[in-house]
Amino acid sequence: MVLSAVTAMALGFGFLMLAATQLTASFLIERRAKENLHIVDAFALEAAPLVGGFDAEGIQALLAEQAYLHTARFLVLSPDGTVWADSLSSLNGLRLAHGEVLDLSAGRATLSQGLHQAGDTWLGYYASTIVFDRSTVGIALMSSSLQDVFDQLASIRQALFSYFLLALLLAAALAFWLTQLIIRPINELNDVMRVAGREGFALRARVRGRDEVAQLSQSFNAMSERLQNLDQMRNEFISNASHELKTPLSAIKVMAESLLSLETIDEGHAREFLEDINGEVDRLNLIVQDLLTLVRFDGRQLPLQKEYLSLSELVFNTVARLAQLARRAGVEIKLELDEALYVEGDALRLSQAIYNLVDNAIKYTKEGGRIWVSLRHEGQNVVFTVRDTGIGIPKAALSHIFDRFYRVDKARSRATGGTGLGLSIVQNIVRVHDGEILVDSAEDEGTAFTVILPAAQDPEPYDEPDEAGGSQP
Ligand SMILES: Nc1ncnc2c1ncn2[C@@H]1O[C@H](COP(=O)(O)OP(=O)(O)OP(=O)(O)O)[C@@H](O)[C@H]1O
Ligand SMILES: [Mg+2]
Repeated sequence: MVLSAVTAMALGFGFLMLAATQLTASFLIERRAKENLHIVDAFALEAAPLVGGFDAEGIQALLAEQAYLHTARFLVLSPDGTVWADSLSSLNGLRLAHGEVLDLSAGRATLSQGLHQAGDTWLGYYASTIVFDRSTVGIALMSSSLQDVFDQLASIRQALFSYFLLALLLAAALAFWLTQLIIRPINELNDVMRVAGREGFALRARVRGRDEVAQLSQSFNAMSERLQNLDQMRNEFISNASHELKTPLSAIKVMAESLLSLETIDEGHAREFLEDINGEVDRLNLIVQDLLTLVRFDGRQLPLQKEYLSLSELVFNTVARLAQLARRAGVEIKLELDEALYVEGDALRLSQAIYNLVDNAIKYTKEGGRIWVSLRHEGQNVVFTVRDTGIGIPKAALSHIFDRFYRVDKARSRATGGTGLGLSIVQNIVRVHDGEILVDSAEDEGTAFTVILPAAQDPEPYDEPDEAGGSQP
């Protein structure tokens, strides 16, 4: 970054410097030419009567005076370019064929100028026709050194070059500082990421300002936090699951051992033990099934078979499966179902959710209690409610009941066979159906769970509404 910034800057500055010196050079030389042409013109005017009158002495005197005055060489030439008089006298009688002289002798111009190199120095030649009595009687030529102009240009170039170096140095420093400003946070983030890759997501990247790197750091931090939470949840899940599985396994182990320790096994005894063992195995099976369901939800691998289905029918059938359990628990279930309410959903999973909610209501309601199960249409939605007059849920526990393995009263739940996975599964099922689940409860008064699902629009063309509607509860 520094290199490319400096290169770009050097190219820009270099070009600017070149243009500046070129412009200054042509400006200075032009200005000098204008002045000198003016001088040679005035000289020609003054020399005209002398040339016209063949006053050689007067001409020589004027030449000397002008040469002294302007520190230049002055010459008077014949109209065809032969030197008549030279302030330095060395060119007398020679014919000059310089461009500017030729221009005037050919009558192409009355004023002319040119640059000539003599050794190391540059000379400016300025010529003007000498007119006397309306005819050209000669040519005035002035030769003046431009060395001072070139010296001036050289010092300007030198100064510009110093500025150029200074600017380049400043640009490099600025570019370096800027890149450090950008790169340092990137490097820091990179370090944090490397540590995260090696040791886990405990470290957080520092967020400074609001630029892109700060946003990147923020995103990384959010991701780290989520991964950390997931990691923690996974550990908790495994330890809870192992614990839940251990309980029935220990019971089985104890019963099997006591059976084995008997010297003689009478059949009644053995049957009793085996029935208990069988019950614990059933329970293990249920827990494992629930765990698998949840794990599949997490991996989003749960295959859903969504279809257009009558929720009214599904609720009725599911509650019917629980009727015996309710009767044994001494609770009464009241059904209030609107007819022909349809949703797009997986019948098996929705039935599982309804089952879990009603099962909870039965489990957590004392003998003689009541449960209302209702299903109704509300706007674009279908609203399913299970309300009971049970033990209720304490306020502090309400935000946790959907957590895995969470039970308000562990001892009581275990006695009723609960693992604390039921509501978590219900919540997942509702979520994959784009629904919402709400809970409202008061301790010792009762609990109400409400599930809101989007109602299905029109029946699919291949569905036969007659059949679905005909078997309504
Ligand atoms: N209707 C209800 N009345 C009172 N408490 C309830 C009710 N439903 C759930 N709870 C409380 O919420 C906890 C979590 O319920 P959840 O269904 O997840 O677990 P569980 O019923 O204990 O076990 P599982 O359903 O896995 O067999 C329960 O242990 C209970 O304390
Ligand atoms: Mg439950």
